[in-house]
Amino acid sequence: MIVFKTCDSLRDYLSTFREESQSLGLVPTMGALHEGHLSLSKLSVRQNNLTIVSVFVNPIQFNNPADLEKYPRDLEADLDLLEPVLGFRGIVFAPSVEEMYPKQIDTQYDFGPLAEVMEGAFRPGHFNGVGIVVNRLFRIIEPDRAYFGEKDFQQLAVIRKLVELEKFGPEIIPCPIIREADGLAMSSRNQRLSAEHRAAAPVIFQALSEAARLYGRSDITDLKRQIIAMIHATKILKVEYVEFADEETLMPVYKTSWPNPVRCFIAVYADEVRLIDNLRVS
Ligand code: PAF
Repeated sequence: MIVFKTCDSLRDYLSTFREESQSLGLVPTMGALHEGHLSLSKLSVRQNNLTIVSVFVNPIQFNNPADLEKYPRDLEADLDLLEPVLGFRGIVFAPSVEEMYPKQIDTQYDFGPLAEVMEGAFRPGHFNGVGIVVNRLFRIIEPDRAYFGEKDFQQLAVIRKLVELEKFGPEIIPCPIIREADGLAMSSRNQRLSAEHRAAAPVIFQALSEAARLYGRSDITDLKRQIIAMIHATKILKVEYVEFADEETLMPVYKTSWPNPVRCFIAVYADEVRLIDNLRVS
């Protein structure tokens, strides 16, 4: 496993690799890796000759400065986790902020309505920042495939739209959510939960499972009320939103007879740590 910290050194290395027309997989991450990231990396290793895992905490996608400051960072621990997965078939790209953004960036994407709901509504500017960094990674690395987890389901839709807008980019491979034994979706932010909040957090997946069980039997407004009540019964988790949305357009669904698959999306605050999760309900 080779570690590159500059775009030029990575590009130089990849140009020789490209001549041999081998396939290249990219797993973009912000570090603080867990089994979810490793599952994406393993899939890329299976599907490509070479896998690049990028580790970059992207400042311009954080709408909350405290969240950026407290985001866990430990490159050495990340490398230890990646070494057995990538071995000689992988590269880690861990650039600095100056390396990624040598110039002022003023790109404004219009991802349309799918970036205006849920995460887009509650985290202004977030998806624009994600779009900018992902497009930059795609342009530097020119992967054949890029791997994204379904925990950030809306992000996946935005990235597909990004490839459409830029008319440039790899095949986007969605990967299933990896959960702890108690159902909590794996997330780098879980490290920041207090013992009390960690113990309460599995209620998010229980609420989603309840939504899937009751979807179609109960009115959506009632269902949302029940889910919110279930989470608020912990007394220490605070719901930011519960939404039922069309899997493709991400537009809210208000009735249970819907022609397309529907997913339930939840965002919750555990003190200052924000957790998101989702599950298909129809
Ligand atoms: O999902 C993430 O970790 C980030 O949003 C991504 C895609 C690596 C861009 O910074």
